[in-house]
Amino acid sequence: MKDDMKRNDEQELIGRIKLLKEKHNAVILAHYYQDPKIQDIADFVGDSLELSRKATSTQAEVIVFAGVHFMAETAKILNPSKKVLLPDLAAGCSLADYCSGDAFRRWRSQFPDHVTVTYINCSADVKAQSDWVCTSANALEVIRAIPEDQPILFAPDRNLGNYLIKETGRKMELWDGACVVHEAFSMEKLLDLWKKHPEAKLIAHPESEDHLLRVSEFIGSTSALLKYVEENDHETFIVGTEKGILHEMQRRVPEKLLIPAPSKENNNCACSECAYMKMNTLEKLYQCLLNMGPEIELDGEVMEAAYRPIERMLTVS
Ligand code: 13P
Ligand code: SF4
Repeated sequence: MKDDMKRNDEQELIGRIKLLKEKHNAVILAHYYQDPKIQDIADFVGDSLELSRKATSTQAEVIVFAGVHFMAETAKILNPSKKVLLPDLAAGCSLADYCSGDAFRRWRSQFPDHVTVTYINCSADVKAQSDWVCTSANALEVIRAIPEDQPILFAPDRNLGNYLIKETGRKMELWDGACVVHEAFSMEKLLDLWKKHPEAKLIAHPESEDHLLRVSEFIGSTSALLKYVEENDHETFIVGTEKGILHEMQRRVPEKLLIPAPSKENNNCACSECAYMKMNTLEKLYQCLLNMGPEIELDGEVMEAAYRPIERMLTVS
């Protein structure tokens, strides 16, 4: 009875969101880590790179970003004249939050002859100081587009940075930041899980720690992990990234067994979830469309400077 009422309330909310979306000529873009209900109502679901591309091609006047702050900022930088809304402005990211524009400026000044590459998970201010931006889907391509003798500064994810050094053999200085979700996987629990499912293949996002990547069958961005599971003949996978991706993954391969990689943080939970991503709810999405806010607002000069390294990234990948 209670469940039925909840379902009816949710259906009503979804109906209202759809009406408001039409009224304001808005598009909802959602990341694969969003709550499944939000993914289901979105006009487009993708990874950071796909969402940036979609933000450049949409005809809608309003972009509602069901993701985290740096993603909505990127959409705004790519569409300065459009209204970009984020259901909860507090939806941050441990990578972006621990790399302030000022600290990054000081760090950069110590390496004046280095080319600066920043992972898209950073603030507009940090992007504005960068030569290149990359996402996990095109980081290797971006690094390979830089002349080989050119030393590189890479921020803010040291795990992705170390992975890139290993793959390309390039000389890189790394900012000491990490994703709280991808650093939470437990090797001990993973080994226990493997005892129960010895046939399972581990696939992981490159934001994960090196010890996990070393035992992974495949390493890739969220879109690459989805593609791998779809195209590989194997039937059982342990998925080393945020649990939200399992919604789309299971939809694509309903017959396969997908197990979220276990997290060390919480004994009651066998999975890693991004608390920032999960700040967005159906109710906040509705309120956001109703009030046309909270809105992303950025300084014009910062937007202009941040646009260049993002545009450079979009042209090479
Ligand atoms: P991708 O969307 O590039 O796979 O990155 C995952 C992520 O952590 C987004 O915050
Ligand atoms: Fe940031 Fe990690 Fe959450 Fe992605 S999963 S938004 S990198 S904290």
